[in-house]
Amino acid sequence: METKDKKFATRVVHAGQHPDHETGALVSPMYLTSTFVFTPEKMERYMAGDKEGIYTYGRSRNPTQNMFQEKIASLEGGEMALATASGMAAISTALLGTVHAGDHIIACKTVYGGTHALFTSIFPELNIEVTFLPEMTPAALDAAKRPNTKAVYVETVLNPTLEVLDLQPVFDWARANKVRSFVDNTFTTPYLYRPIEHGADVVLHSTTKYINGHGDHIGGAIVCDAVYHEKLRSSVYQEFGPVPSPFACWLGLRGLKTLHLRMRAHCENAMKLAEWLEQHPKVVSVSYPGLKSHPQHDVAARQFENGFGGMVGFCVEGGIREAQKVINAMQMAYYAVSLGDLDTLVEQPATMTHGKMGPEARKAMGIEDSYIRLSVGVEDVDDIIADIDNALKQI
Ligand SMILES: Cc1ncc(COP(=O)(O)O)c(C=O)c1O
Repeated sequence: METKDKKFATRVVHAGQHPDHETGALVSPMYLTSTFVFTPEKMERYMAGDKEGIYTYGRSRNPTQNMFQEKIASLEGGEMALATASGMAAISTALLGTVHAGDHIIACKTVYGGTHALFTSIFPELNIEVTFLPEMTPAALDAAKRPNTKAVYVETVLNPTLEVLDLQPVFDWARANKVRSFVDNTFTTPYLYRPIEHGADVVLHSTTKYINGHGDHIGGAIVCDAVYHEKLRSSVYQEFGPVPSPFACWLGLRGLKTLHLRMRAHCENAMKLAEWLEQHPKVVSVSYPGLKSHPQHDVAARQFENGFGGMVGFCVEGGIREAQKVINAMQMAYYAVSLGDLDTLVEQPATMTHGKMGPEARKAMGIEDSYIRLSVGVEDVDDIIADIDNALKQI
């Protein structure tokens, strides 16, 4: 079925889905093959540049991967998508199509820990410089811009602090200055925000998180226009080989089919939990873009649709030890990195994802020692609250 003009929920279910011609199987089969057999006629067409529907080798393309990419591109409103073996593979592949030795990137001050490591340890070795800007206003971007600035990099909701950037001016600035904009939309997903509709050039995902949503897949995606897609596909992607397995793509396709239902439940639970945490005497502060007390609540309310996401952060009275006591006492919320699963997950950035960067860098990012980050699952919210209520009694 042609899904181009269909509403979001219909595209979540139908985009990229093609019942099997041979058997009629509704759920797309998984193509577990590393190579593809040609006919002389196909080879002739392929060599002449008509690659439509022709597969050659699994490092370049696989039909299961194609279906996954088609669904993601449709939901993001992008021309094309490229699936990768992880979110980090998506970020590094997408950026290396734009920045080379001697180039400069402007990034928002807080980024996912792995991205921070890429920007501060690997890119400098490649002679690619990154400036982290405390504010992403057009004036600050003007001041930071250099003749060699090729990319601006942002996250829709900053990880792990859950601050929200006003993104439209960033994309407008990038367009006006001929700098390619990259945005990590992992936390919001296209259910809450579609950056390309607002002028972003390249959207990135760790599909490991909400896109797949079931905690059984590692993957990433790059969404962009057809020209940049072809540039990446025929160079960095082709030669670095960050392809996902057909099985990972099949799981991603299956998981993505319920995105709107899952996100609705994550958002509702997160809102209720954040409101409850805000009135708890042992909780010093709560960070959730849906709360009126969130410093960028107005930006989030204007920018996002359908809710404010499933991530909630809070600081407890005390420091690292007190936060650990609370986490250890949780029975249902699993103490684990990652996010966006059906299960509630809890992590402490100071000792886990952002532990390596040291207290100074964490302070600069606004990450307190007693900060606890929750990826709120889709369990009954009363049970999530009861679990945390009980854990908070430990301090
Ligand atoms: C916002 C964000 N981007 C990218 C990544 C990296 O994704 P992956 O672990 O799939 O490589 C993560 C991982 O937690 C993340 O939270």
